[in-house]
Amino acid sequence: MSEFGKIFEGEARADLLQPNGGAALNEALLEAGVLCLRGAALSGGDFLALARRLGEPQAQLIREHRDDEYPDVSIISNAHVDALGDGKRIVLGRHWHTDDSYFAVPSAVTLLHANCVPAGKGDTLFADTRAAFDELPELNKNIINGRQAIHKYKSRRNVSPVPHRTAEEEAETPPVSHPLVRTHPETGRRALYLNPNRIDHVAGLSLEDGDALLDELLAFATRSEFVYRHRWQAGDVVIWDNRCTMHRVEDDFGSAPREMMRVLLKGAVPV
Ligand SMILES: [Fe+2]
Repeated sequence: MSEFGKIFEGEARADLLQPNGGAALNEALLEAGVLCLRGAALSGGDFLALARRLGEPQAQLIREHRDDEYPDVSIISNAHVDALGDGKRIVLGRHWHTDDSYFAVPSAVTLLHANCVPAGKGDTLFADTRAAFDELPELNKNIINGRQAIHKYKSRRNVSPVPHRTAEEEAETPPVSHPLVRTHPETGRRALYLNPNRIDHVAGLSLEDGDALLDELLAFATRSEFVYRHRWQAGDVVIWDNRCTMHRVEDDFGSAPREMMRVLLKGAVPV
């Protein structure tokens, strides 16, 4: 757990930002699960170049959020409003989730660059689902090993606002099935694969039993000993592994401007 949420500054950061630093950065990420490169802000082009050293970018589903100059970069901002209805601002990701699990092949890694952050507000919390799986009681492990959950863009258990999809975007996101325990393709470590916001139900269980199981797993996986709280500074690049973590943003910053650049990297089918 000690490495979870490691911050690299100064020389250590500079080394990982080198054009040939991709392998070292990936190694640090596999160890840490979530890490931060702290220092001066990067341009959109430099941020995207950094992301490409770790993997192949995956375009964000919602076209409207894609950056005009760099379509592989999306802009996450609380200036966005819900396209569906009431015109109110929409803070995305304020409940625990892992990115893009509603895809059959979800994103492996997410990178965020803090363009603008409210002082002392809008922290992002991360949960280490490798450590949570390791510590999970055997009884729970026996129930979930080999069991699938159905993920939907808008699930019956949805708790966090999700952006409205166009017809094209809706066609790209049918329900998908993923294991509740996944094995990391690079490290071989097992981790809980939970997305409380997108899991609709657990295969092979009644809705009542599945809901109780999911609630129990979420409560366990987000215990304080598994959680790292990131307090943002402008220019921070935070990188996390969606295959073995969950995250959520603290929705405590009102209308104070908060804007991030985001790149998602392509992953593999969870097994
Ligand atoms: Fe997210």
